[in-house]
Amino acid sequence: MDRVAIFDTTLRDGEQVPGAKLASNEKLEIARQLAVLGVDVIEAGFPASSPGDFDAVRTIAREVRGVSITALARAVARDIDAVWEAVREAEMPQIHIVLGVSDIHLQGKFRRSREDILAMGVEAVRYAKRYTPYVQYSTEDAGRADLQYLKQTVFRVIEAGATVVNIPDTTGYCDPQEFGHIIQTLHDEVANLDQAVLSVHCHNDLGMATANTLSAIRHGARRIEVTVNGLGERAGNTALEEVVMALKVKPDYYGVTTSIRTEEISRTSRLVSSLTGIWVQPNKAIVGSNAFAHSSGIHQDGVLKARQTYEIIDPKSVGIAESRMVLTARSGRHAVRARLQDLGRVLEDEQFEQFHQLFLDLADRKKEVYDEDLLALLTQGDPIGFRGFELAALDVSLGSQRTPQARVTLRYPNGDEQSATATGSGPVDAAYSAIDQLIGQRARVLEFSLQSVTEGMDAQARVSVRVMINSDVVIGRATDSDVVMSAVQAYLDAWNRIHHQSTAAHHV
Ligand code: KIV
Ligand code: ZN
Repeated sequence: MDRVAIFDTTLRDGEQVPGAKLASNEKLEIARQLAVLGVDVIEAGFPASSPGDFDAVRTIAREVRGVSITALARAVARDIDAVWEAVREAEMPQIHIVLGVSDIHLQGKFRRSREDILAMGVEAVRYAKRYTPYVQYSTEDAGRADLQYLKQTVFRVIEAGATVVNIPDTTGYCDPQEFGHIIQTLHDEVANLDQAVLSVHCHNDLGMATANTLSAIRHGARRIEVTVNGLGERAGNTALEEVVMALKVKPDYYGVTTSIRTEEISRTSRLVSSLTGIWVQPNKAIVGSNAFAHSSGIHQDGVLKARQTYEIIDPKSVGIAESRMVLTARSGRHAVRARLQDLGRVLEDEQFEQFHQLFLDLADRKKEVYDEDLLALLTQGDPIGFRGFELAALDVSLGSQRTPQARVTLRYPNGDEQSATATGSGPVDAAYSAIDQLIGQRARVLEFSLQSVTEGMDAQARVSVRVMINSDVVIGRATDSDVVMSAVQAYLDAWNRIHHQSTAAHHV
């Protein structure tokens, strides 16, 4: 069977979700898991966009082996230089150039003619080829471009040395038939296409990203750009897990395979969700919490008699175990470590000791500790590898006849402590105001979400809070068995992320 290469852009397009900005160590952790998952290419970022992103891409290129690492450049020398500097130490480095191809982009964004833009693209490919043989060219907004001009562009950039041509439906405009037609035409009519890999990149604005990507594969695409959980700009990108499982479930229909270890899908999804703070909707295909839950009596009866009656995918094949392993305060160190290892998280001795202490604290409060709890605990402590403001103490008072009030004591990076008291519409609002007073700046809460990590009254509460500080949007997250505590820690996490980003920017 033919193989379709998987290009994962969770760390670039996925990270463009407002507030989903990841710290460098979080990006590295996801990149490592993507390598375990078996993707062929990791797009690690957009190095020219910020010094922090440059550093994160370079770290991933240095540390993650067995997979090609690429990063995005606009078709200008400065961006291409930055990508090469960032990826050059990778085992298989690649430069990714993007330039518009639709008249809407040419006139609206560049105000330049087709000829000018084509010459600019060709020049950019030639420039990148001085660094590496592996150059990808993306024809931005190809879904709305003139097909003759698209064909001409693809031909000319391959002639200039592009080894991959990527056809993005940047605005998620096409339907599967239209997109399939574009890919088939390029496949049949671009004379030198045999010298390059034909790739696609679909967005989900009309909910058709997966369908368009599958259609492209049927019409000759042999590389696809995807993200874990379908994260990405606006309505997101094609979800890796959806296309990979469609190809696996229907091998005769699609006639292609991928190198993905599908048993790693669920773990990868949970990691991306917990580190970005973007929770997966329960009914999301493949990785939603209800994706394999049968609720109607008729369905349950059918599945018990013969699984295939209502299930087209065995949950185990995407890494969802049937039996849940439960740990307690009496589970020894060894059992906790082994369980973490099963979940794909190997900790150094010192990290494990810190983790074990958190585990014991939790197990004391919440007798039974599930896998989800362990994964949530991993995001506690020092998630971004940066000690900023720490919560030294929190007191809240509320009642039906009084205004909620919170007293917060913060410990600053230099060890000093200060307290402030504020009132609010509830204890969380009051605590947030007290924190703003102490930091001396106001943040605007754009979104607040609270979820329980597992079932039951003693479940941990996971909070994700999207806030705007000056003009930066950031998502803070935290988990605790106390709802208010979790909300306050998530808010502090957001503040620390903003401070960490600005400190990192100053260091480079
Ligand atoms: O959507 C898009 O066109 C992109 C390109 C950079 C491939 O993200
Ligand atoms: Zn995109």
